[in-house]
Amino acid sequence: MRGKFITFEGGEGAGKTTQAERLAKSLNNAGIETLLTREPGGTFGAEAIRDLVLEGTSDRWSGLTELLLMYAARLDHVEKLIEPALERGVWVLSDRFADSSMAYQGYARGLGKERVLAVHKAVLDNFQPDMTILFDIDPIMTMKRVETRGEDLSRFDSESIDFHKTIQQAFLDIASDNPERFVTVNADAQMDIVETQILFSIVQKYPELAGKLGDQGGGS
Ligand code: TYD
Repeated sequence: MRGKFITFEGGEGAGKTTQAERLAKSLNNAGIETLLTREPGGTFGAEAIRDLVLEGTSDRWSGLTELLLMYAARLDHVEKLIEPALERGVWVLSDRFADSSMAYQGYARGLGKERVLAVHKAVLDNFQPDMTILFDIDPIMTMKRVETRGEDLSRFDSESIDFHKTIQQAFLDIASDNPERFVTVNADAQMDIVETQILFSIVQKYPELAGKLGDQGGGS
């Protein structure tokens, strides 16, 4: 059976990476093979594009060039890693995917929805995640987390708080445009509570997993 493609979206420092790792463990415990990956990146070629797009000053690329670089990386990622894994029955969990292009390049960089949807269609046709988990959190909180991580800031991390507020609102809009695919979790909560929200949503969407991922959503 084909695997499921689940993506994690939201602003910087929302805790997506940790939660993707936790979900992978829970699924593994339920006997499901998983592949954890990220965007931009995930394959050798896409990681090289990642360096191009994340390093340097904010004005290094125009919004459209940035979008095309993201989609060049994404196509390599889908063709070489994601699609073959799904075909083998593996569940693929990706830290960001196409909704990030809509939020960052479409909304925040001002390219507009239509342009991003047109590029998506041209590159990936109707390929979309089976489920997308949106981490909803106040950008003021997340910017503090990012600053205290002690890592180098990427071109996006160093944008203004208004930029990050736009991103936040953009993701909420994208979620309401795609209610069949999106689940929104309150990422202000403690990690264990966020994890519980996610497991609950997975079981709601895939009831055959009830009772296999821990207590959450098992029903009684
Ligand atoms: P990363 O350090 O992975 O951020 P995070 O840990 O928050 O996920 O950097 C990825 C950055 O790239 C992030 O700021 C969002 C941005 N991005 C886009 O602008 N468009 C895209 O299509 C993708 C996938 C990411």
